[in-house]
Amino acid sequence: MRDVTQNAAASEVARQKAALRGRLCAARAALSAAERSAAGRRLRDAVLSLPEAGMAGTVAAYFSIGTEPATRSLVYALWKRGSYVLLPLLRADNDLDWASYEGPDSVRSRPDGRHELVEPLEPPRGPDAIARADLVIAPALAVDNRGMRLGMGGGCYDRALARVGPLVATVALLYDGEFVDAVPAAPHDQPVRIVARPSAGVTRLPL
Ligand SMILES: Nc1ncnc2c1ncn2[C@@H]1O[C@H](COP(=O)(O)OP(=O)(O)OP(=O)(O)O)[C@@H](O)[C@H]1O
Ligand SMILES: [Mg+2]
Repeated sequence: MRDVTQNAAASEVARQKAALRGRLCAARAALSAAERSAAGRRLRDAVLSLPEAGMAGTVAAYFSIGTEPATRSLVYALWKRGSYVLLPLLRADNDLDWASYEGPDSVRSRPDGRHELVEPLEPPRGPDAIARADLVIAPALAVDNRGMRLGMGGGCYDRALARVGPLVATVALLYDGEFVDAVPAAPHDQPVRIVARPSAGVTRLPL
């Protein structure tokens, strides 16, 4: 009986997440390429202003796709400043592997075209490589004031963030309207500690 109740609660959370995802994706789809780039430039400057970014030996970042705020200039800037930058490779089991970014020629569109992903060409270092990051930059569709994040629905970043130590800065990159009152959360969901928004800049969450 307890399992039945738990399953019903889990599917209700999944349904609420899907509804919120639908609304947020529709809002993102209305943005122009120029707006995505402008948001990306402001997010880059916000993230680079973090003391954790200045001190970071290793940064786990990601290459934006689709309607996400653009992250290429942030990835490039982190690398140029001398951080060791890791980018994710999506595995078949929805976990993330990690390989180093070594400049603009060190990435390519994924050969199978999956999700239009751009991934690093360097050798993968394994899913645990994220545990060595001093700063983790994660995508999100929304984050609430507990740090609970809504992603694209693969659970990839829940798996990855579970390997990150409690004192590491984890930053989700949002558009301005995406810091919301409440994100539906399940036991597997992993919070982030900081959000960055184009106009509001960086907000640290009390975790
Ligand atoms: N550590 C895990 N082990 C097994 N399954 C997991 C784990 N984390 C998440 N999942 C599964 O992944 C699915 C999607 O999770 P969720 O809706 O939270 O994705 P998301 O956080 O929006 O996506 P992402 O992290 O990829 O941006 C869920 O069915 C969940 O059970
Ligand atoms: Mg999740």
